[in-house]
Amino acid sequence: MRITLSIFAICLFIGCKTVKTSGLVTEKAMVVSARVEASEIGKEILAKGGNAFDAMAATGLALAVAYPYAGNIGGGGFMVYRLNNGEVGSLDYREKAPKLAHRDMYLDSLGNVIPDMSWYGATSTGVPGSIAGIFESHRRFGKLPIEAIIQPAISLAERGVVVTRKQEKTIETYQDKIVELSGVTTLFSGAYKEGDTIKYHALARTLRRILKHGPQEFYTGETARKLIDFIQSEGGFVTMEDLKDYTPKWRKTIIFNYKDLKVISMAPPSSGGVTLAQIMKMIERYPLDRYGHNSKRTIQVITEAERRAYADRNYYLGDPDFVSVPLRELLSSEYLEDRMRDFSFKAATPSHQVSHGNVTIVESDETTHYSIVDQYGNAVSVTTTINGAYGSKLYCDELGFFLNNEMDDFSAKPGVPNKFGLTGATANSIAPEKRMLSSMTPTIVEQNGELFMVVGTPGGSTIITSVLQTILNVYEFGMSMQEAVNAARFHHQWLPDIVKMEPKQFNRSLKRKLYKSGYEIDETSSKIIGKVDAILRLESGRLEAGADHRGDDAAAGF
Ligand code: GLY
Repeated sequence: MRITLSIFAICLFIGCKTVKTSGLVTEKAMVVSARVEASEIGKEILAKGGNAFDAMAATGLALAVAYPYAGNIGGGGFMVYRLNNGEVGSLDYREKAPKLAHRDMYLDSLGNVIPDMSWYGATSTGVPGSIAGIFESHRRFGKLPIEAIIQPAISLAERGVVVTRKQEKTIETYQDKIVELSGVTTLFSGAYKEGDTIKYHALARTLRRILKHGPQEFYTGETARKLIDFIQSEGGFVTMEDLKDYTPKWRKTIIFNYKDLKVISMAPPSSGGVTLAQIMKMIERYPLDRYGHNSKRTIQVITEAERRAYADRNYYLGDPDFVSVPLRELLSSEYLEDRMRDFSFKAATPSHQVSHGNVTIVESDETTHYSIVDQYGNAVSVTTTINGAYGSKLYCDELGFFLNNEMDDFSAKPGVPNKFGLTGATANSIAPEKRMLSSMTPTIVEQNGELFMVVGTPGGSTIITSVLQTILNVYEFGMSMQEAVNAARFHHQWLPDIVKMEPKQFNRSLKRKLYKSGYEIDETSSKIIGKVDAILRLESGRLEAGADHRGDDAAAGF
């Protein structure tokens, strides 16, 4: 009953006629991403005999075309994989700070943060990793020739992509800034309406050169030269040396158990896996299924665990190639049990009583996630980003993509608020060639040694808590994959000390009771929390999609 009501409420909230309670169900293979064009291209690659890694590359490139809001070749990302033999691993192709970067690069002579310098334009751009990551993943695990994988994205770019109602709105929202930075003749200066088709000829040309010459085209070839000329003419810091030296990294995943689930997620420089692990281990001993979905007790337990985990996240985590992250200690059962010792259902624990109490970080909300399971039983979970919506808002018309503004994910000045009024820690301070801390949480879950779920989402600091709730919705509250994605979400990140809730999703009496127990609720700062794209392996072995209706997300499979 409660689930039906929340689905009804979400329907009202996003203004749709019907919200499905079951996602697409397929027999063997599935791709779920932010755009139907990208999911279809991934599916076609699988249908041609390609594997999940081939589809990872094809879907990623298709998103760069169809979803310029966050899909990219100018950004970076993380992939977590699980092979059909149970082997797991992850690829880090996160952007890096340029060699010219230094701790105080966004400070003026008085030591104050220069507004917007790490947010808009070429000064905010880190060294992109997406093309290197896609090729590295394909080199190690791909089956089909790379030409077969890149060509569909080129054809899509030439054919063009139809503007959706949501895309019309986002272009409208960000257009003034895009035009201010990129010029009045930029491709994104058009008065695009729902149903219009945008053709991406420049991106098609760039992709064709990459198809012909390989990843070195992006890192040392003509594309590299054009990119660097453009970045430097716009005052940015990335050089040819930076591009030439960029390499993605295979990293060990974060693995932990939650009851009989095994959760596999991304390690630093993403905070996703560690923070998800901390929260899930802290809540494991509470009978959430008995408390009920989004009940007061469930919200309290999750909120209190989130508060404590985010306090640690913001203090301890950074690029492990530069700072030592005390992973073993942060994930030890004794430590996490101890963290929850002062929690009581009687009242909220004020965040100022939770150490480490004077630093926090937030990343922007605009990222994109896609989940893939292939017909061979391999799974990949990929989250990729240019950070802000349309990245730095600086579009390189000659090459056909937005530059990222990932440098804003560093703390420009430890202890001083960033653009969002939030402050960061020294573990994540800027250094040449360092990777900025992320919240991206591409995750794969196993049950009894079998694949159970592939899940992830955009949403900045709310990524981790959205992934958490999606897993719990299925495992603890018995929802279908699509119901789990549809369900209303809430979020707490230690500071600010508020429970963020999707508006009009939680009833008044519940909110009143939470308020009485000391929880401040904010329904205004985010209309939606995450856009989760997930795949559940059903008991029958079939696959069910959860494609988030909060975006244009869609599943395709067979
Ligand atoms: N830029 C968003 C993230 O990395 O979490």
